[in-house]
Formats: sequence, C-alpha cells, structure tokens
Amino acid sequence: MEGVSKKHPFVFMFYLVFLTPLVCSQLYYNFYDLTCPNLTRIVRYNVWSAMANDTRIAASLLRLHFHDCFVIGCDASVLLDDTNTLTGEKNALPNKNSIRGFDVIDKIKSDLENACPSTVSCADILTLAAREAVYLSKGPFWAVPLGRRDGTTASESEANNLPSPFEPLENITAKFISKGLEKKDVAVLSGAHTFGFAQCFTFKTRLFDFGGSGKSDPTLDTSLLQNLQKTCPNQADSDTNLAPLDPVTTNTFDNTYYKNLVTNVGLLQSDQALLGDNTTSSLVTNYSKWPILFFRDFAVSIEKMGRIGVLTGQQGQIRRNCRAVN
Ligand code: HEM
Ligand SMILES: *[C@@H]1O[C@H](CO)[C@@H](O)[C@H](O)[C@H]1NC(C)=O
Ligand SMILES: *[C@@H]1O[C@H](CO)[C@@H](O)[C@H](O)[C@H]1NC(C)=O
Ligand SMILES: *[C@@H]1O[C@H](CO)[C@@H](O)[C@H](O)[C@H]1NC(C)=O
Ligand SMILES: *[C@@H]1O[C@H](CO)[C@@H](O)[C@H](O)[C@H]1NC(C)=O
Repeated sequence: MEGVSKKHPFVFMFYLVFLTPLVCSQLYYNFYDLTCPNLTRIVRYNVWSAMANDTRIAASLLRLHFHDCFVIGCDASVLLDDTNTLTGEKNALPNKNSIRGFDVIDKIKSDLENACPSTVSCADILTLAAREAVYLSKGPFWAVPLGRRDGTTASESEANNLPSPFEPLENITAKFISKGLEKKDVAVLSGAHTFGFAQCFTFKTRLFDFGGSGKSDPTLDTSLLQNLQKTCPNQADSDTNLAPLDPVTTNTFDNTYYKNLVTNVGLLQSDQALLGDNTTSSLVTNYSKWPILFFRDFAVSIEKMGRIGVLTGQQGQIRRNCRAVN
C-alpha cells in the first residue's frame, strides 16, 4: 500500500509534464506516424516536382497557408469551391486571380488518398506544403504539429478582410492581434515576401501619384522606381503584370527582403512601412544582419500562425476532395 501511494506523485508528474502540453495544444508532431508514415515524403516530392516546373509555386503555396489560417482558422476553407449552398473564398478580392497552387494540393491529396485513405486533412497538407516550399527554397526547416481537421464552411467576407497592402501598419497589426498573433509576427511573417511576385495594381499607387502628390513615393529607391515604371506603365492594362517581391534573390527564401527594406527596395507599401515604425524597424535591421535570427523567428511565428483556429479531435472532417465538403 505504501509503495502505491509513493508512486502517485510520479504518476501525477508524468501527466503534468508529458500530457498537459499535448492536451492544451491539441496538435501532435507525430500525429500521422502510424497512420500515414510516408506523408512527409509524398508532400515533399510533390512540392519539389511542382517547383521543377514552376519556381514561383513555392511562394504561392506558402501564401495559400496564410490565406487559409487568417480566414476562420487553418481549416482548408480557402480550398473550397463555390457550390449552390456554399460561397467559397476564391472570389474574395485578395484571392481572386491571385492565389494559386490548388492543382498541387489536389495532386498531393490524391497521392495521399492512395497511400492512406481518409486520413490526412487538407489543412495539414497546406501546412506541410508551406513548410516544404520554404525549405526547398533554401529557407528554414521546422517541425510541423499536425492533427488539424477540415472545416465545412468558408467565409468570403473574412477573406475580403485579409490584410491589404494599402492599409497602414497599425491596421495590419490589429488584424494580426485579432488572430492571436503579435506586432512582432507582422515583421517576421512579412519576411515571406522574400520570394514570389505581386501584380502591379498592388503597388502602383507608389509609382506615379503617391497619395495624390502627382509624384512617386519619395521613399522608393530610384533605380527600382525606374524598373517598376517599365513593368507597370501608367495605364490600366498593366495592372496584372508581375514584379518580384524581392528583385535581388527572387526565388530564394533568405533575409534579402529585410536588406531590401533597409535600402528602400521594398515593393509593397505595407512592406516598406516596417522600416518606418520604431518597433518593427529594429527587427528589420536585425534580420537584415543576421539571417539565422530571421530563420529562427520565422519558424516560431509560422508555427503560431498554423495553430490559428484549428479544428481537432472529432471537430470538422477529413475531406476526401480538398475542394468540397464530404
Ligand atoms: C502583413 C500583411 C500582408 C500583406 C498586406 C500582404 C500582401 C500581399 C500582396 C498584395 C501580394 C501580391 C498578390 C498579387 O499581386 O496577386 C502578396 C504576395 C505574397 N504574400 Fe503576402 N501579404 C501579407 C502577409 C503575408 C504573409 C503572413 C505571408 C506568409 C507567411 C505572405 C506570403 C506571400 C507570398 C509568398 C506572396 C507571393 C505569392 C506568389 O508569388 O504567388 N504574405 N502578399
Ligand atoms: C507547370 O506550371 C504552369 C504554370 O507556370 C502550369 O500552368 C502547369 O499546369 C504546370 N504543369 C505541371 C505538369 O504541373
Ligand atoms: C484603418 O482602421 C481604421 C479603424 O478601424 C479605419 O477607420 C480605417 O479606414 C482603416 N484604414 C484603411 C486604409 O483601411
Ligand atoms: C521613434 O524614433 C524616433 C527617432 O529614432 C524618435 O524621434 C521618436 O520619438 C520615436 N517614437 C516613439 C513612439 O518611440
Ligand atoms: C536588435 O538587436 C539589438 C542588438 O543585438 C538588440 O539590442 C535589440 O533588442 C534587437 N531588437 C529587437 C526588436 O529584437
């Protein structure tokens, strides 16, 4: 009897130390280890092969994860197509003719349905594909907690409320805070603009008539300005032309984004604004000097983003087709 009661504190400690964090976060690093052991390999191979055809797809996949998580949580709502009874998010302004990568997600899903049917959620696929996309672009690697489930709803109005390049940093920060993130995360996650492209209309206001001044944005580097004015002539039909978010190392996930901000070579007004704010400018300077610091902080922030509003346990479902509710 005495022996049993002496064990109690240890049993209690075991629960406290090992089980509490798991129960609280509700996601698990080894969630599919037994049920889908080839998961990482399948995702990595597909992202790699998509990148071999189209380098930009890496950036597009990372952005898809962001647009998923910021709209009713990381529940793959961004992947749902419109139906008679459901309005998806694909036609929301920040998404329409802009987000891409759906075919890659479909291919991963179909490979996974062959390897381990009805097991891996589309929300987890998006999260893992984003990690692989960054890693295969020479960026950081981080462990991805898994076990998200797929939602059965979407919100076009929330998607319309995604951070916009035309709003001030204060407004963008407020949106991050409303998702449980912090101002620091704005500076860190904006580092994703170290690869990929933006359409002219998302930064054209800086080129010709900045704030109604009739002139360009005075903070914009002059040689970048000249290049951008060639890519985006002052007429409406140039609105969908593309410019690289990082003109220096366009396809590489590195800290050049921050080096660009320091030399006024940020593309979006919302990017360059990070240098005009005391809190974020000191982060920008630090990341521009120490790539490892950026990589470490990015891994922390993106994992945090990947936990926004997740469905777990018996909530939601495992979609068979990422584009439609079962
Ligand atoms: C902080 C607020 C943010 C704003 C205002 C913003 C805005 C934008 C805009 C306007 C574009 C260009 C879209 C187009 O022209 O079609 C873009 C592209 C992109 N964004 Fe953001 N973004 C933000 C945060 C993020 C975050 C948090 C991530 C990911 C962690 C991200 C990843 C990307 C990537 C990778 C691209 C390039 C996509 C491609 O080439 O397909 N952005 N963003
Ligand atoms: C290759 O990339 C292009 C876009 O750049 C896309 O339209 C096409 O479907 C891709 N092909 C394959 C086989 O993935
Ligand atoms: C920023 O937020 C304020 C307060 O919510 C709002 O009144 C304003 O219109 C927003 N600015 C932009 C450019 O979205
Ligand atoms: C921000 O920094 C500038 C100059 O570095 C300083 O003049 C200003 O008072 C600072 N503002 C805040 C809110 O700390
Ligand atoms: C940036 O680095 C400096 C010097 O190491 C440090 O004092 C400062 O706190 C850092 N800034 C931020 C916001 O982390």
